[in-house]
Amino acid sequence: MTPSLAERLERLTGLLAEWHPVWTIEPFQCLKPPWAAFPSRGTVVPWSDPTALAGWLPAEPLGELIDLPRVPAVAAPPPERLRLHVGGRKWRQITAFVSRVHIVPGQSIVEWCSGKGHLARALADGRYAPVTGLESDARLCSEGQALAKRQGVHMHLQQQDVLAHDVLRWLRPGTHVVALHACGDLHLRLLELVAQTGCALSLAPCCYHRTVHEQYQPVSESGRELARRHALALTRQDLALAVQETVTAPCHTQRQRRRAKAWRLGFDLLQREIRGVDAYLPIPRLRYGDLPADFQGFCRWAANEKQLVLPSITDWTARARAGWRRLEEVERLEQVRHLFRRPLEVWLALDRARRLEEAGMRVDLGSFCDRELTPRNLLLRASRE
Ligand SMILES: C[S@@+](CC[C@H](N)C(=O)[O-])C[C@H]1O[C@@H](n2cnc3c(N)ncnc32)[C@H](O)[C@@H]1O
Repeated sequence: MTPSLAERLERLTGLLAEWHPVWTIEPFQCLKPPWAAFPSRGTVVPWSDPTALAGWLPAEPLGELIDLPRVPAVAAPPPERLRLHVGGRKWRQITAFVSRVHIVPGQSIVEWCSGKGHLARALADGRYAPVTGLESDARLCSEGQALAKRQGVHMHLQQQDVLAHDVLRWLRPGTHVVALHACGDLHLRLLELVAQTGCALSLAPCCYHRTVHEQYQPVSESGRELARRHALALTRQDLALAVQETVTAPCHTQRQRRRAKAWRLGFDLLQREIRGVDAYLPIPRLRYGDLPADFQGFCRWAANEKQLVLPSITDWTARARAGWRRLEEVERLEQVRHLFRRPLEVWLALDRARRLEEAGMRVDLGSFCDRELTPRNLLLRASRE
């Protein structure tokens, strides 16, 4: 049987808390993998064998808990003529999103943090009225308004700070608020106002770490209670994992990036030795075109940046090799860490979903498109019972 939102939240809280030391480390900065935190599981971790490692990690229960349904389409996609001036990928996201927004006749529509209001325009095409986009940037408002006029679409883009108190004037029980990729505090504010006013909501959240709070405060009562019970404390930096992707770049760029990383890690070993301090030392970023020709040149540059004196070194090749070995370890650790990326994102979305369930709303959570179209593909829909 498919678990309910509450059950998913409960079980994910347990798993994220239990494996917290594994997914919250910064692999680049630590010399020792965090396995020591798992004495009960035995000290021998199948570290060098990825298949055995997969068995050691809770891949199966995590997989089950993040397996959310695709939200079924309930409306026709927007007319193609409106795609003009919208990027191809963005338009396909809007199309997938719009056909899953369940507008009830008589509802007015508000788009939250609308930018130029592409989503609002796609919804405004004669089918629903009135449609208003709220956006703090005056330039985006006027450009979006001009675009709507050219396409003969009736909608209104309103310059409005959604964090300001007077935003409430746009929200009535008969309002349906839509938000595609609204960041951290901006969508949390929306959530609170929806819970207060009973507006209907269709939200694709994004950038959970964009928040003024250093420490994550679950927004649902059940989230708070579970986090307390499992001692799950998340920092803003922990939240950033939820939206981190493994970047796909052309082969030669990937090779260059790996070399730069291996050199940084090689230098890191060296600087620990020179300073006599077993701690990571950040060094400035370097554009790939500015990367010195070899590892020795890189260490000279980095030492100079950090005002360290390089000892006389004869075994540069061995030193460089140590950097490459560390890179392999870091990459393995990153793979392990990334097993928890989607579970964390789903957990944050479930906390939001439960906030609205607790406010007496009917809520569903699923995906609105494939991850290839946008990895931020979760759609949270809520309406008053
Ligand atoms: C990530 S974009 C999302 C835009 C659009 N929904 C999309 O999918 O392309 C965030 C938008 O929020 C707007 N924004 C940021 N802070 C805001 C605030 N306090 N009030 C209203 N809009 C804000 C930005 O100007 C930007 O246009």
